[in-house]
Formats: sequence, structure tokens, C-alpha cells
Amino acid sequence: MDYAKYKDLAKNILDSTYTVILTGAGMSTESGVADFRSKDGIWAKYDPMKVASIDALKNDYDNFHAFYVLRSNTKVQREPHIGHKILAKWENEGHIKSIITQNVDNFHNEAGSKNVYPIHGSITEFRCSECDEKTSKESFINKTPCEKCGGNLRPGIVLFGESLPIRVLENAIYEVEKADLVIIIGTSLSVYPAANLHSHTKGKVVYINDENTAKKRIDIFIEGKAGKVLLKVDEYIDEIKALRV
Ligand code: OAD
Ligand code: ZN
Repeated sequence: MDYAKYKDLAKNILDSTYTVILTGAGMSTESGVADFRSKDGIWAKYDPMKVASIDALKNDYDNFHAFYVLRSNTKVQREPHIGHKILAKWENEGHIKSIITQNVDNFHNEAGSKNVYPIHGSITEFRCSECDEKTSKESFINKTPCEKCGGNLRPGIVLFGESLPIRVLENAIYEVEKADLVIIIGTSLSVYPAANLHSHTKGKVVYINDENTAKKRIDIFIEGKAGKVLLKVDEYIDEIKALRV
């Protein structure tokens, strides 16, 4: 493990005035939720176009529905891990300003983070795919047609072939523009626009991942597991703070 880099990151966090975090599926694997593009990732077992696309929703609802019932059930059996909790603590202590996440699992909020921008939506919200009427998870799981218009129900996440929620995305870009430190955690940086968000900062970009798949500018790469790295960086933050008082 590269402790010098961890310590450096701790110093950078303490010295920055506006730190923004960007997370992906690798942030949740230590909670027991598979990521998408690793060897055992979700897209190794499923074709995203067949289960997670606007086309699947419209033309193959049974497959679409079965996939998201599974995803929703997996999510409710899992919990945020120590890394999510450290990020919530850092926000609370004023070390970071916000979290932009591609994850739909709501773990950052459940861990106590407040300023979260879920650019790919949330699997804890459900609505009608025709009239957008809000509905419950139970109605979706039971495949009940929309009470208002009879349409098929869907989770409130962004599907392949759909645009990102514009307000959330604009706010996320604004956050990165203001940032003097962006810390990217657990994403292969292969899905746009998330993969390009950090290009909006004039500040430093740190990338924590278990493999380096970044194509765009990264200033510091830290190889490791999200939860483990964050725990160690948090220890260094406490150490440095104690010395500075
Ligand atoms: P990916 O599965 O593409 O990338 C996850 C990255 O995290 C990989 O590079 C893993 O090696 C790494 N990783 C896994 N576990 C880790 C850990 N414990 N610590 C550090 N790194 C770890 O997931 P995303 O980049 O989030 O879109 O994928 C982006 C989007 O593609 C998702 O939001 C989803 C998917 O299709 C939608 O659902 C709209
Ligand atoms: Zn409806």
C-alpha cells in the first residue's frame, strides 16, 4: 500500500477549500453489490441493452422487470460500508462539499451524506413509464399497472438510451467547476458524461480505484479498495489535525 500517497491526499483534503467526490460502482462492492465491468460484474452476466435500456423497457418488459426486481432486492439486503460513512463524516466536518455519484443505490444518503448528486437516478424511487406518476416499490415488484393510466412501472434510474436528469447534471458540473480538489472513487470512467466530469475542474484530480482505467487527466492515482483507502486517509487526517492544533 502506498501510504505516502494516502498521507498526501489527507493533506490535500485539509488544505483544499472545495473538495468534490465522484463515485461509481466500485464504491459499493465492499457493501456486497457487484459492479458492472469487472470480471464478475453485472454486464458479464447480462447484456445491458436487453435489460437496462429504454428499448428493453418498451419492448421486453418481462426481462426488464425481472432484472430490476433482482437489483432492488439485492440493494435492500445491503448496507453502506465504512467508506460511505467516512465520506458522510468528512462532509459533516467541512472537509468535502458534495458527492456526485453514478450509483443508484442511495448508500451515500443512507450513510448520512446530504449534498449528493445522483446523476444516474435512484433505485429506491419508482414511477410510471408513461405518465411519470410516482409509485411504490411494492407496486413495481408486483408488476401492478399504473393506477392512473395503466402503464408499466419502472425504477427512477437512467436507462441506456435516456438522457441524464438535466438539473442534477448541471448542478454536478457546477460543483466540479468550483472544486479545487476532485476525488474520483471506484469507477471505470467509461460512461459519459460522468467519465468526463472532472475535466471541468481547474483543481487537482485524484483517482482511487483498484485498477487504473482513466483515459482523461488524472494527477494522482491511488490503487486500492475504496473503503480501505478512505479509512487510512481518514486516520492520516486525524493525525495531521492533531499535529496542527
Ligand atoms: P464499472 O463497473 O464500470 O467500474 C467500477 C470500477 O470500480 C472498476 O474499474 C473496478 O475495477 C473498480 N472497483 C471495484 N471494486 C472496487 C473497490 N472496492 N475499490 C476500488 N475500486 C473498485 O462501474 P461505473 O464506472 O460506476 O449506469 O459504471 C458507470 C455506469 O455504467 C453505471 O452507473 C451504470 C453502468 O452501466 C447506469 O446504470 C445508467
Ligand atoms: Zn401512468
